Amino acid sequence: MRAVILYDGGSDEWSAQDVAAVMANVREVRTALRRAGHEPVLVPVHLGDFRWLTRARKADLVFNLCEGINGKARYEDFVVGTLELTGVPFTGCRHWPIAVCHRKYVANTLLAAGGLPVPAFTLAQGNKIPADFPLPAIVKPNAEDASVGIDRDAVCATRRALRKRVATMLEHFDEVLVQAYIGGREFNVGFIGDRMLPISEIRFDRMPEGSWPIVTYAAKWHAGSAEDMGTQPVCPAQAPSDMLRRIGAVARHAWHVMANDEGYGRVDLRVDEQGQPWILEVNPCPDLSSDAGLARMGRAAGWNYDELVLQVVEETLNRARRASAAAAAQVPSSIPA
Ligand SMILES: Nc1ncnc2c1ncn2[C@@H]1O[C@H](COP(=O)(O)OP(=O)(O)O)[C@@H](O)[C@H]1O
Ligand SMILES: [Mg+2]
Repeated sequence: MRAVILYDGGSDEWSAQDVAAVMANVREVRTALRRAGHEPVLVPVHLGDFRWLTRARKADLVFNLCEGINGKARYEDFVVGTLELTGVPFTGCRHWPIAVCHRKYVANTLLAAGGLPVPAFTLAQGNKIPADFPLPAIVKPNAEDASVGIDRDAVCATRRALRKRVATMLEHFDEVLVQAYIGGREFNVGFIGDRMLPISEIRFDRMPEGSWPIVTYAAKWHAGSAEDMGTQPVCPAQAPSDMLRRIGAVARHAWHVMANDEGYGRVDLRVDEQGQPWILEVNPCPDLSSDAGLARMGRAAGWNYDELVLQVVEETLNRARRASAAAAAQVPSSIPA
């Protein structure tokens, strides 16, 4: 099969590290596809340059690793939307969940309307927060991911601290979300299509004294930092089976509401003292690197990295088959006499 691996081609402003981070995953996917007998070609996407589209249209499958253009995540939506128009099967989620999940306020509103447990949230408009908003509260940028803007001061226990934090955040981000803080254990649930992977937990046992147990920017990106060492993933999660069942059921419902069980993704949740799971967010097309969360869950399911990549391909091809069967059922191939 001719497969195009699509990725953000970056720009002159990118550091060698930025390029290496993208290319490491691109190359390991290429290796996995080659080993399975496919013919992958690497196609970078650059701003204002549409040659990628011409090449994608000739492929049997697009393996979409493009998380933005030039590092700008908002362009990820446009690339996926354009892929949808081509009709070429592509891996991962459709345009809709990706666009929606780039705005936490919109995603939370849809999840809550779908009957899912979402911690109370509000957009801090002009630094006005309802006087009775529950504390502690966490403050996060509305339109970022990967823990951008989340550090040790993100959780506020007093109204004064909250007002101050929101004001500081509004200096850096256009929109800021305030959300009720859920103490308790944090879990991640991965999906490929409608298949749920083994549940993973982030353990905060070794978090530095006095820090809130949350996944901060340092925890995610500063390897070896105290916050990185204090956030340890454990997969499969060790928890009572009824707790895992509840987490799985809520995550599955959220994945269905948001992504229609298509593509691959990760649902992040927390469980409060009463055992109630709360949705923190749905991540369509999370990092597919061999050292990231989804690959860890795949390993717990018994797959090596190549098998994970092939599961992602298989889900895409199954979806394409279902779509063409549905189209054939609606349009008669010959006009009856
Ligand atoms: N409502 C919340 N209650 C408790 N912790 C939270 C809440 N929202 C976010 N966090 C913490 O902050 C981290 C990052 O928040 P998240 O909403 O997942 O944003 P991002 O898109 O940056 O990953 C989470 O993994 C969790 O540790
Ligand atoms: Mg998250």
